[in-house]
Amino acid sequence: MASGGGGAENGEGRKGESVLVTGGAGYIGTHTVLRLLEKGYVVTVVDNFHNSVPEALDRVRLIAGPALSSRLDFIPGDLKSKDDMEKVFAAKSYDAVIHFAGLKAVGESVAHPTCTTRTTWPAP
Ligand SMILES: NC(=O)c1ccc[n+]([C@@H]2O[C@H](COP(=O)([O-])OP(=O)(O)OC[C@H]3O[C@@H](n4cnc5c(N)ncnc54)[C@H](O)[C@@H]3O)[C@@H](O)[C@H]2O)c1
Repeated sequence: MASGGGGAENGEGRKGESVLVTGGAGYIGTHTVLRLLEKGYVVTVVDNFHNSVPEALDRVRLIAGPALSSRLDFIPGDLKSKDDMEKVFAAKSYDAVIHFAGLKAVGESVAHPTCTTRTTWPAP
């Protein structure tokens, strides 16, 4: 995450650094969250479960175990909602953000083009 000495360059992570993972309940998000916890990061997930289920994060907690899971926080929220995002950033500060919340299904993007565009590039 952050640059400069330490183990991050060796892939060892930086214990205690805080990472916000958008879409952290999704396919790539859950794998990333688990790896971040294993590397010592404090992880916050924001997701609206548009394309995932709360049980996905339960499974991450199960695999990670109680000690690592104590560093995992979840904030429900829609990236398209300014209010939701203000709550996410008011809750704590983050050293890094990893953005996975997106709509990627080709069929959905054809059926609802404005919906997928707005999620990928939120309006100001
Ligand atoms: N899966 C792949 O092989 C792959 C490969 C390359 C890139 N990607 C990209 O990585 C990203 C994540 O992919 P994935 O396969 O994990 O997708 P996914 O659908 O499994 O996960 C996306 C997550 O984002 C959440 N989400 C969607 N819209 C949201 C919103 N408005 N607010 C909050 N949360 C929202 C969904 O509920 C879901 O949990 C996408 O941008 C995708 O295009 C995926």
